[in-house]
Amino acid sequence: MSHQDKLIIFDTTLRDGEQSPGASMTREEKLRIAKALEKMRVDVIEAGFPVASPGDFEAVRAVARAVRDSTVCGLARALEKDIDTAGEALKDANSGRIHTFIATSPIHMQQKLRMTPDQVVEQAVWAVKRARNFTDDVEFSAEDAGRSDIDFLCRVFEQAIKAGATTINVPDTVGYNLPDQFGTTLRTLLERIPNADQAVFSVHCHNDLGLASANSLAAVSNGARQVECTINGLGERAGNASLEEVVMAVRTRRDLFECDTNLDTTQIVNCSRLVASITGFPVQPNKAIVGANAFAHEAGIHQDGVLKSRETYEIMRAQDVGWTQNRMVLGKHSGRNAFRARLEELGMVFESEAELNEAFSRFKELADKKHEIFDDDLQALVNDAGFSAENEQIRLVSLKVCSETGETPHAQVVLSLDDKEQSGEASGGGPVDAAFKAIESIVGIDSVLELYSVNSLTSGTDAQGEVTVRLQKDGRIVNGQGADTDIVIASAKAYVNAFNKLLQEQNRPHPQGNAGGDGGSWMNP
Ligand code: KIV
Ligand code: ZN
Repeated sequence: MSHQDKLIIFDTTLRDGEQSPGASMTREEKLRIAKALEKMRVDVIEAGFPVASPGDFEAVRAVARAVRDSTVCGLARALEKDIDTAGEALKDANSGRIHTFIATSPIHMQQKLRMTPDQVVEQAVWAVKRARNFTDDVEFSAEDAGRSDIDFLCRVFEQAIKAGATTINVPDTVGYNLPDQFGTTLRTLLERIPNADQAVFSVHCHNDLGLASANSLAAVSNGARQVECTINGLGERAGNASLEEVVMAVRTRRDLFECDTNLDTTQIVNCSRLVASITGFPVQPNKAIVGANAFAHEAGIHQDGVLKSRETYEIMRAQDVGWTQNRMVLGKHSGRNAFRARLEELGMVFESEAELNEAFSRFKELADKKHEIFDDDLQALVNDAGFSAENEQIRLVSLKVCSETGETPHAQVVLSLDDKEQSGEASGGGPVDAAFKAIESIVGIDSVLELYSVNSLTSGTDAQGEVTVRLQKDGRIVNGQGADTDIVIASAKAYVNAFNKLLQEQNRPHPQGNAGGDGGSWMNP
């Protein structure tokens, strides 16, 4: 192919990805992911839903200020308050986009919006025009396009483009479509909408039937030139199309696509690890591209083939997506510069010398306990380094656990609560149970433990254990993480981290709820 179009990669890990129950991120965590996405040369980063809460607004604003090379986008329902708040949050962006949407399927219009199709078109046009007051880069989405009438979609998209939308997004909001069908929808829209050439057509596919990436690729084959996706396929319910799958399918099958992305694919594994550890959503070992087994060959016949010629069983090179040997990179005698340099290679950049110093002293502590420090250890160490320390109301000061054959385990814990130390103790069925009960006796938040998982970061009995704890309180779900060579301490850190998130987490309206539950009205202002 002599000429290839550009396929725009729109990453929504920080917005739709954050809508996964328990995946909410702090401003600092969003900033770190946004920087990693920028480094990977993602074209558009959807940073959040600014009207949802002051925290969301601040996070979008911080990303807009920090990111220079990617476009930063904020989501807004087709409502005045949403659009104006998104415009304000994006004010300082080098390149800012407002993404406004309204539902177009019969079921959403009748049951959720209680609006007629004419009202929906009018509201869409009004919203796009309002957004254009803030930026020339306006995306319009027809929510639940995958179950909308094609004639109505043509009508609403034509009007949105006339009103100034520069990107038209076709979401399969509930993951209902099949690849052939979705590809045909895209082709039909591009053929029938008279001003289709004045906008980029985009798709946003959910994975309810496991078809999000396949549907996105079918749309690309039929003319879509933007794909909305997330790292590790994170997202509402079963998730969104996974960035790594879409990008690598298009790159690997260049022979079949008339477009390619601008991504530095060698950053994919780093981004995947970062998102997994920040959200506490681990990557399944057999996940395409980023799973631990994605390039592992177990069967002897495969190993033999790969040794003779890699292409016998591999269609991509592991290093092209960022797999490195999980190298023993640093040790006890490594200096600050080597530490900083390796972290930068892994996509982790320190905002200040103070952050570097804090992470470096944790590194030294770890190196005393563990001779070989691997990339995964560094990643966990930085995640654990308390970048969001200023927001933490509870800190683990010390933990002592007695566990002995034939005896009931007992834990004594000291926590700092709003800078005042308090101690508690409890017995439990095991050391972790005792530690958790001791923490609960101080914190006093009544929540339900929904998940407790321990994952060994590297091999060897001196490996760090990474613990994820999922808590639920009044319908709100948070994930806490902690890592340590002592898994009881890692567990206590994770439990405290989850409580901190519960304390921070605000009751945010859902962008796709009925007017979001924040009193917003769908009627024309
Ligand atoms: O799934 C969806 O329809 C969305 C829109 C807001 C684009 O996330
Ligand atoms: Zn979505």
